[in-house]
Amino acid sequence: MQSGHGKRLYLNEVSTRDGFQMESRFIPTDDKVAFINRLSDLGYAKIEVTSFTSAKAIPALQDGEAVMQRIARRPGVVYTALVPNARGAERALESRIEEFNVVMSTSETHNLVNLRMTREQSFRQLSEVITLAQSAKVPVNVSLSCVFGCPMEGEVPLEVVLGWIDRFAQRGVQGITLCDTTGMAYPTQVQEICATALLRQQALDFTAHFHNTRAMGLVNTLAAVESGIVRFDGSLGGIGGCPYAPGATGNVATEDVAHMLACIGYDTGLNLDGLIAAAAELEQLVEHALPAQVSRAGHRLTRHAPPPDFSAILSRAHERDILEAQP
Ligand code: COA
Ligand code: ZN
Repeated sequence: MQSGHGKRLYLNEVSTRDGFQMESRFIPTDDKVAFINRLSDLGYAKIEVTSFTSAKAIPALQDGEAVMQRIARRPGVVYTALVPNARGAERALESRIEEFNVVMSTSETHNLVNLRMTREQSFRQLSEVITLAQSAKVPVNVSLSCVFGCPMEGEVPLEVVLGWIDRFAQRGVQGITLCDTTGMAYPTQVQEICATALLRQQALDFTAHFHNTRAMGLVNTLAAVESGIVRFDGSLGGIGGCPYAPGATGNVATEDVAHMLACIGYDTGLNLDGLIAAAAELEQLVEHALPAQVSRAGHRLTRHAPPPDFSAILSRAHERDILEAQP
C-alpha cells in the first residue's frame, strides 16, 4: 500500500438521494434543503441532491423540484440528480440541474425490476435523455448498476460491463459511475474492473460507488484508489440502498472513507469534524442509528479522559517502584 502524498480525490455525497430513497420516514422538504445547504460547506465536489423518478416508485423523493429549486448553490460544488427517463429529464431541466445522473443496470434482471424496462429499452430512453442534455449543454454521468455482480443473476461478465461503457462513451457522455449496488465487490475484482475501464475509455471521468453490505466498502475504496480512480460516491452515516435490489444495504459512509483517506495522506477536501456534526443531524432526520463508525468513534486521535481512579493507579505504580528499589 502506498501513501497518498496529498493526491487530490473528489467526493460526491449521495445520502440525500441513495440514502433518503431507502428511508421509511418522509424527510420534510425544508429539512432536506437545510441539510443539503449544510453539506455544501463541507468540501464536496458534488452532491446528488435528489432523483426525478416516479412518485410511485420512489415516494421519498417526490419533492425533487422543490428541493432542487430551493437549495443554495455554492460555486465549485456540482448539484446533480438521478434521472431515469425523458420525463425525469424535463423535470430536472426545469429545476436548473447541473448534471444528469442517468441510471441503468448492467444486469437485465435488475434493470427490469428497478426500471421496468429491458436494458435495450433503457438505452434507447437514455439516448433521448442524453440528446436533451446535450442541447441544454448539461453534462451527463451514467450510473451503471450491478457492475460487480447482481443479487438476482450473480456474476455480471466483464465484457458486458465494458460493452455498456463503450456504448455510452460513443453517445458522448462525460462520466460513468461503476456501482456496486448490493456490496458484492471484492478488492482484486475492483482492481481488474477499474483498471480495465480507465485504460479503455481514457476520456471519461470514472467514479466508484460502493455499498458496505459485506463490510468490504473501505477495502474496495482503497483498491479503486490504487487503480487510479479519483472520484467516489459516499453516503453520510452509511445510509442508502436501492429499494429494487434484494438485500441492498447502506453505502460506504462518507465520514469513514474521508477519515481513512486522510490518514493515508490523500486530500479529499472534506472537513471531517463538519461531516461528523452533519451525521449527528442526519441521525435526527432519519430517526434511527446510523451504521457509520467514525461519526460514533471520532477520528483516530480523539482523546478520551483516563478513568476517575487514574491518580490512584499511578500512585500504586510509583509505590511499586519504591518497594522494588528497597533491598
Ligand atoms: N417523474 C415523474 N413521474 C413519472 C416519471 C418521472 N420521471 N416517469 C414516469 N412517471 C409516471 C408516469 O407519468 C405514470 O404516472 P400515472 O400512473 O399517474 O399515469 C407512472 O409514473 C408510470 O409511468 P410509466 O412510464 O409506465 O413508468 P413505469 O411505471 O414503467 O416506471 C420508471 C418507470 C423508471 C419511471 C420508474 O420505475 C422509476 O421512477 N423508477 C425509479 C427507480 C429508482 O430510482 N431506483 C433507485 C435508484 S437506482
Ligand atoms: Zn447505491
